Amino acid sequence: MHKFSINDFAKYKLNQQKITMVTAYDYISAQILELSGIDTILVGDSLGMVIQGEANTINVTLENIVYHTKAVRKGASNSFIIADMPYLSYHFTPSETIKNAAQLICHGGANAVKLEINHLAAIEHIEALIAAQIPVIGHIGMTPQSINMFGGFKLQGKTEIEAEHITEMAIKVEAARASAIVLECIPEDLAAKITAMLTIPTIGIGAGNNCDGQVLVFHDLLGLNPNPPKFARKYCNTQQLMLDSLSEFANDVKNGRFPNSQHSFKGKSK
Ligand code: KIV
Ligand code: NA
Repeated sequence: MHKFSINDFAKYKLNQQKITMVTAYDYISAQILELSGIDTILVGDSLGMVIQGEANTINVTLENIVYHTKAVRKGASNSFIIADMPYLSYHFTPSETIKNAAQLICHGGANAVKLEINHLAAIEHIEALIAAQIPVIGHIGMTPQSINMFGGFKLQGKTEIEAEHITEMAIKVEAARASAIVLECIPEDLAAKITAMLTIPTIGIGAGNNCDGQVLVFHDLLGLNPNPPKFARKYCNTQQLMLDSLSEFANDVKNGRFPNSQHSFKGKSK
C-alpha cells in the first residue's frame, strides 16, 4: 500500500486525487484505519467530546493529545498522523508554540500538527512552526475552539463579511506554508471558491463535495455516536451491533451457554 507523505498533499491535488482523513484516539482504531488504507489519521481534539464526554473541545490539554497520539502511532506505525494543537497551546509566544508542537512530534510521534486559525495573529505561529521544520495543517471556518466567540457550533461564512474573513484566512494560511487546510462547516460554494483559489489541498467537513478531500470523526462514520452532526454520514450502525452482541453475551451467561469447552482449559487434575 502507498505510504502517504507530506509531499502527497500537493501531489494529490495536482493529480485531482481526493484525500481521505479520519480521526483516531487509540491503538485499536488506529490499527483499523491503517489496514483500511485511509490516507491520513487525525488525532483530533474532538477527543474532548467523543472520549472525555465534554460538551466542546476547549478543555483538552496538550498532555491529552500527546497521550492519544502515542497510542495511535503504536497502532499505525506506517500512517501519516496529524495531531491537533489544543486550545491555548499556540496562543502565546511563537517559542511556546514550537515547544508544544515538538511534544506532539517528538513524544507523540505525529508527522504534522493542525492549528485552528480564525485570526491574523495566529499566522505567525504557523510561520514559527515551519521555521522549526514542523509541518502544519490549517483549520478554518467553523473552528470549534472559537465556540465562545461564535456563540455555539454554527455554520460560518454565510454573510459576505464572514466569507471574506474565511477567504483571507485561507490565503494567509497558504502563504505561511501550511501543507493543507481543513474547511469546517461553511457553505459549499465558499468551500469550492477557496479550493479553486489555493494550490494546497482543502479537506472538508460539512463543506460540500468540491473540497480536495474529506475528513470525518471515527465515531460518527462508524455509527458509534448516537447523535452525529448533520454533515456526517453513518456508514454502519456499530452501536446496534455492540448492543446486540452485549445482550447475546449476557443471555449466554445467564443461560449457561458461555463459556463452553472451546473457551475453557483442561488441567491434569485426577
Ligand atoms: O478534532 C477533530 O476531529 C477535527 C476534525 C473534525 C477536522 O478537527
Ligand atoms: Na479538532
